[in-house]
Amino acid sequence: MGFVPAEIETYCIDHSTRPGQVAKDLQQHTLASVHGSNMLIGEMEASVLGFLIRLGKVKNILEFGTYTGYSALAMAEHLPQDGSVTTIDLNPETCKIASEFWSRSPHGKKIKQILKPGLEAMKDLPQKFDLIFIDADKNNYSNYLTWGLEHLSENGLIVVDNTLWSGKVLEASGDKQTESIKAHNELAKSLEGYTKTLLPIRDGMFLISKVTG
Ligand SMILES: C[S@@+](CC[C@H](N)C(=O)[O-])C[C@H]1O[C@@H](n2cnc3c(N)ncnc32)[C@H](O)[C@@H]1O
Repeated sequence: MGFVPAEIETYCIDHSTRPGQVAKDLQQHTLASVHGSNMLIGEMEASVLGFLIRLGKVKNILEFGTYTGYSALAMAEHLPQDGSVTTIDLNPETCKIASEFWSRSPHGKKIKQILKPGLEAMKDLPQKFDLIFIDADKNNYSNYLTWGLEHLSENGLIVVDNTLWSGKVLEASGDKQTESIKAHNELAKSLEGYTKTLLPIRDGMFLISKVTG
């Protein structure tokens, strides 16, 4: 679900920096022939992520939730040559599509794929990241956020997708995923020493960074 009228979003996308041709081809391929294509972040969110990456001089990114690799490639396009996106997913079929498209882009070499459940994969990642993008299983959002806070570089940023969950976060009581997202949002809200903003872009982008200085 989007919270902005479709024609306004189209106008915004038309006036924003857009993903490159391989990412566009990947988006089209996913929309045309992959199950669950509504999970793609889409061009508006890709543009916002790209802007944040350049603004924050981000060099290394961790993504929970690769799917067919669109968001990973869209983010990689904004990284310097020595930048990296490490992206985690447990679905070998969609990861295969991702690898195929990444290999067609000059930015694909910046992307490292981990084919494991997120909770398992993160145990093997001791390093810190400049940007952590959370877009995998909703029931683990609070776990990913808690881990992310410990693995964020000094000026790093966490971006959590789908945090408005089609507006279902307003329900007094919802299904398990809705309740997990609501719990995540309350956890994010309660964080001391961080600055937070929940933006109504696409399905909700929650931005969290440490207050420094
Ligand atoms: C919303 S999609 C990611 C979309 C992607 N970021 C994009 O915009 O191109 C969520 C992905 O999370 C993956 N996923 C679900 N449970 C997972 C888990 N426990 N660990 C890692 N990935 C998981 C799914 O296989 C799916 O590909």
